[in-house]
Amino acid sequence: MERITMRQAKDYVGQTVQIGAWVTNKRSSGKIAFLQLRDGDCYFQGVVLKADVSEEVFTLCKNLQQESSVVVTGVIQEDTRSKLGYEMLVQSVELVGESHDYPITPKEHGTDFLMDHRHLWLRSKKQHAIMTVRNEIIRATYEFFNKEGFLKVDPPILTGSAPEGTTELFHTKYFDRDAFLSQSGQLYMEAGAMAFGKVFSFGPTFRAEKSKTRRHLIEFWMIEPEMAFMHQDESLEIQEQYVAFLVRNVLDNCDIALDILERDREVLEKYTQLPFPRISYDDAIELLNANGFDDITWGEDFGSPHETFIANHFDKPVFIMNYPKGIKPFYMPLAEGRDDVVVCADLIAPEGYGEIIGGSEREVDYAQLEENIKNFGLDTADLQWYLDLRKYGSVYHSGFGLGLERTVTWICGTEHIREAIPFPRLLNRIYP
Ligand code: 4AD
Ligand code: MG
Repeated sequence: MERITMRQAKDYVGQTVQIGAWVTNKRSSGKIAFLQLRDGDCYFQGVVLKADVSEEVFTLCKNLQQESSVVVTGVIQEDTRSKLGYEMLVQSVELVGESHDYPITPKEHGTDFLMDHRHLWLRSKKQHAIMTVRNEIIRATYEFFNKEGFLKVDPPILTGSAPEGTTELFHTKYFDRDAFLSQSGQLYMEAGAMAFGKVFSFGPTFRAEKSKTRRHLIEFWMIEPEMAFMHQDESLEIQEQYVAFLVRNVLDNCDIALDILERDREVLEKYTQLPFPRISYDDAIELLNANGFDDITWGEDFGSPHETFIANHFDKPVFIMNYPKGIKPFYMPLAEGRDDVVVCADLIAPEGYGEIIGGSEREVDYAQLEENIKNFGLDTADLQWYLDLRKYGSVYHSGFGLGLERTVTWICGTEHIREAIPFPRLLNRIYP
């Protein structure tokens, strides 16, 4: 007999098949039992008629506990009431693994309880929907950069340098030397761009940030494209096309997940319309001050109320461009005719989700870069290889980093970033 998954059901209507599944719920009366099942991919119903099955199987069905695993055998039939469109008329049930007192029940649980049971919480419908969207964003990312002619380059995770500043580094021993977990693959991607033109990376990054907000993870995944012979304005066009492509693909390919998440599709549709608005840091400060925010002055970084106001003002993701050099990393070049702002942009998502992309053009002048490295308190010896890139056929180039979990949280419209990654690493949590 053929073993299928419920996703294949449309090709098996009227046929007898087997499906491996877990019991999420059940309901039974004297003559009929309804099993609510999930096979890891789809949720579906198994209908068990007492008259059709052995006494033993019917008794088993009546006693099945939440999250017991079973192999059900039966006939696939259409079921117009379910979103999936199909159900199984069950002929027999084999119990594979028992489950008793499953801790996560349909009742409300507190966040700490759910986080302590993350290994089981992942089995719930909403978590499955979020992981489906995450998977689609990952898939669409590869599709986008492959179609745009980028080569994937994998930067190291154990590094000796600190691209985004030294305060947030995870320190580890590297035999008898020191090493750090990567905060960003960017510097290596710049070497990649000089070797291969257009490159992107996609991997885990680590920040020892003492931030306990709904936007911060200690370990998160970042997509970092880097493009040779490209100025910042062209990089912004790639960024907006990429983000709109992600939203488009989630809209087109994650129907069931968006229903479960109750995400408003019309809101998401707006985010597929280009271009995204652009505003300079200078103008953003003016806009804030003119709208009653007297707690921020030129030179300071935005807090989340500021970002939320700016993005909601435009009702779309918005690029804030050219920040003061004092609040950005060492590798960003000064804007033409200015000695106080650098050529960079952050993309701020609306609805309060904050920064999803940070990017910039890169300093290409050897002497200037060397001076910046020293001014930022970094060691030129550690970064000699990076300086080398400015010695041999250096070209203007730009790049950016998109935070995967921030993007998942925003597109799903969920409350907290901890649900956007299977096993979140947070300030006070490394279990499970
Ligand atoms: O703005 P960031 O720090 O930029 C960089 O690391 C650059 N080197 C990227 C580049 O140009 N190649 O981080 C980029 C993005 C942020 O916009 C945000 O989406 C995400 O990474 N991010 C975090 N996500 C979750 N938790 C954290 N603690 C994050 N810190 C940054
Ligand atoms: Mg940033």
